[in-house]
Amino acid sequence: MADLEIRPAGKDDVEAMWRIARQPAIVAGTLQIPSLRLTQRQRRFDDLTDDDHLFVAERHSEILGVADLHVHDRRRRHAGDLGIAVSTAHQGKGIGTALLAALIDLADNWIGLHRLELQVYAGNAAATRLYEKHGFQVEGTLRDYAWTDGAYVDALFMARIRPAGTKVSETFVPAEGQAGMGSSDSAP
Ligand SMILES: CC(C)(COP(=O)(O)OP(=O)(O)OC[C@H]1O[C@@H](n2cnc3c(N)ncnc32)[C@H](O)[C@@H]1OP(=O)(O)O)[C@@H](O)C(=O)NCCC(=O)NCCS
Repeated sequence: MADLEIRPAGKDDVEAMWRIARQPAIVAGTLQIPSLRLTQRQRRFDDLTDDDHLFVAERHSEILGVADLHVHDRRRRHAGDLGIAVSTAHQGKGIGTALLAALIDLADNWIGLHRLELQVYAGNAAATRLYEKHGFQVEGTLRDYAWTDGAYVDALFMARIRPAGTKVSETFVPAEGQAGMGSSDSAP
């Protein structure tokens, strides 16, 4: 997608991120709840630490997606947990791929994480495919992981070990017509 920029989120982005988080398909694919308030989201933004990394995907001043990475502490300092959500109307256009590439680049090449991990609901084909394409493997099933639309759903625990000696630019090649990392051109 042309003109897509992946950049760190700011306080002014919180309302747009909240609107995405409330979309029914996003609620269904994540741990959000329909009653999520803007003020809760703002408070969570204020509580972010240096170990929380938050990117948004922006095109023509519209926030289309969000991705976060939380780095663990102490003996799990080498590992981080991530999640991605793309506005329903803009899915399937490479935005999730661009956001994931930004997180992997940050993890591999700038903060030196060894292991990336995430949970994805069983049956979430789009997310599972996205992560598998970027080196994540299913490590197990978390049974009855979350209460979702009136039923317990399982989640897959997926993880990726940083490939030895490679940079993300060598492992990530955007498909034809898919967005690259918009932030790379604007670096000083
Ligand atoms: C998962 C999600 C982030 C993917 O974002 P996206 O912008 O649609 O992803 P992309 O366009 O970059 O596509 C990524 C891959 O998923 C595949 N995909 C997209 N929709 C799919 C579907 N319904 N079934 C199977 N694969 C699908 C794409 O084909 C693509 O693979 P390809 O390059 O081989 O074609 C997005 O669907 C989303 O926000 N879902 C709701 C929230 C969620 O589930 N988040 C993940 C929780 S960790």
